[in-house]
Amino acid sequence: MSTAENKKVSFVLNNNPQTINSNQLRRVSDVLREDLGLTGTKVGCDAGDCGACTILIDGEQRYACLTAAGQLEGCNVRTVEGLSRNGELTPLQQSFLDEGAAQCGICTPGMLMAAQSLLDQVSNPSEEQVLEALSGVLCRCTGYTKIVKAVINSGKNKNLISVPETGNAVGSRMVKVDGHKKLTGEEIFGADTAPEDSLWLRAIRSPHARARFSLNHPEQVLKKYPGLVKVLTADDVPGNNGFGIYPDIKDQPVLAKDHVRYRGEAVVALVGDRASVEAVSEQDLGLVWHPTEAVRGLDGALAGNLDPVQDQFPDNTLSRGFVKKGDVEKGISGSHAVAEGLWTTSAIEHGYIEPEAGYARRIGDRLELFVCTQTPYMDLTEVAHVLGIDEQQIRIIPSAVGGGFGGKLDMSVQPLVAVAAWILDRPVRCVYTRPESLASTTKRHPVRIRAKAGCSSEGKLTAFEFHGDFNTGAYASWGPTVADRVPIHCTGPYFVPNVLSKTRALFTNESPSGAFRGFGTPQAAIAHEALMDTLSEKIGMDPLEFRIKNALRKGDRTNTRCRQWICLVWMR
Ligand code: FES
Ligand code: FES
Repeated sequence: MSTAENKKVSFVLNNNPQTINSNQLRRVSDVLREDLGLTGTKVGCDAGDCGACTILIDGEQRYACLTAAGQLEGCNVRTVEGLSRNGELTPLQQSFLDEGAAQCGICTPGMLMAAQSLLDQVSNPSEEQVLEALSGVLCRCTGYTKIVKAVINSGKNKNLISVPETGNAVGSRMVKVDGHKKLTGEEIFGADTAPEDSLWLRAIRSPHARARFSLNHPEQVLKKYPGLVKVLTADDVPGNNGFGIYPDIKDQPVLAKDHVRYRGEAVVALVGDRASVEAVSEQDLGLVWHPTEAVRGLDGALAGNLDPVQDQFPDNTLSRGFVKKGDVEKGISGSHAVAEGLWTTSAIEHGYIEPEAGYARRIGDRLELFVCTQTPYMDLTEVAHVLGIDEQQIRIIPSAVGGGFGGKLDMSVQPLVAVAAWILDRPVRCVYTRPESLASTTKRHPVRIRAKAGCSSEGKLTAFEFHGDFNTGAYASWGPTVADRVPIHCTGPYFVPNVLSKTRALFTNESPSGAFRGFGTPQAAIAHEALMDTLSEKIGMDPLEFRIKNALRKGDRTNTRCRQWICLVWMR
């Protein structure tokens, strides 16, 4: 932020006169959230991309993250906290509740404000008008349909969802238990709260995919920035400087020691007051990088011409999956038609609107960690290892999660704030920036699949062969789960008598791949569904008929010879 002087700014906020003394260039989102405690306005990107921070200024939609405090002078400002009165939902909020339009809820305040700006001008908007009005706000959960319906039906809903009578609960709709808080801005996400005396933590991350590094004069930076309390390095981790999903693979360091394995890996964490922590540059730190050639892509992992990504895996193979059922060769040779192909997919970011955030504080010999997470119990175990203390000494308090989709099954801020708070005995908070979230967290596994399938002239599948190489990136994360699970599910919802499936999870110097809805099976679905299309075309059968004919039925044996216990043919 610029060094513009603090000045008084007067405006009306949610019908109340308000005067603040602020740097004129301070983001309004920070003024609302940090200075005035109105955390209903969310921040997803700080860059005008997501719309989570949408508020109304003189009735117009504005991104609070791109509006400067000085621009509020004399304006009428409305945030989500100004919608309802005395806890009563407005017709718009009630409609969101009735339609199930607030799911994780992180986009909901922005959506509500965008919708309100339209409803203030048009009481009965068309779908086109609603789509136009909401076009600046992203939602990653709902698919928008329910939100659009909620705005169109605002004030028209007569059938509010009611609690079903005893005996009639199964199959009936229920009101979202945490829906009310998501609609009023009262829901607390990872970045919405922290003890007032919290220190701020910022990780310094590698700009290189593979490099050795040294930190030459951390003491000087402490002198230059008196507000800086600690420059955390790997040597400060009191327990095991490694975490990971599997009990026997704790390969990802909290802070890298001496060398990094992917671009975005944390090497140092600065802890202190926010302004000081944000002002420090790499030059200040004396970070010196010695980049080396990185292992890139699946071909790079298999080439064997560079040192392995991790020494304990000399051929870069983290794990293998294998499933065999029947005789696939015989099945293919006896087929009337055969289809085959090669498919590749790239890494995919989860794209949740809420960046990773949380805080930790030490209370005597215990640690309390408030964080947005999908796996509080796994966090408990991991943080205990990292701190070298007993699990019973740790309490994880999960915040509301503003979207996860599997990405928040892995740790992010947890070990960093835990170590800092533990050794400094001060509360420490961290909120990832959007670029930091994109650079440092897990992705969907990129994959290369070769697959072949055969069928009879009547359209019955005869055999299926599958080879999949999954790029698991620099650290294991959920790689073994993906390599193990895909062979089981590689034929999708179809019965195939002869199956051979082999997979590998391979290390590269790329972002770690982790959990993402389906653990590798969506990538496999691209292959099996393409093969279904080609086979049905080859034998002249309708593709849907072909699929129905081959769908797993009750009693069929799956690839691992389990008995199918429900009938998947439900369309008829
Ligand atoms: S648009 Fe403001 S936080 Fe994303
Ligand atoms: S409900 Fe919209 S992002 Fe989750």
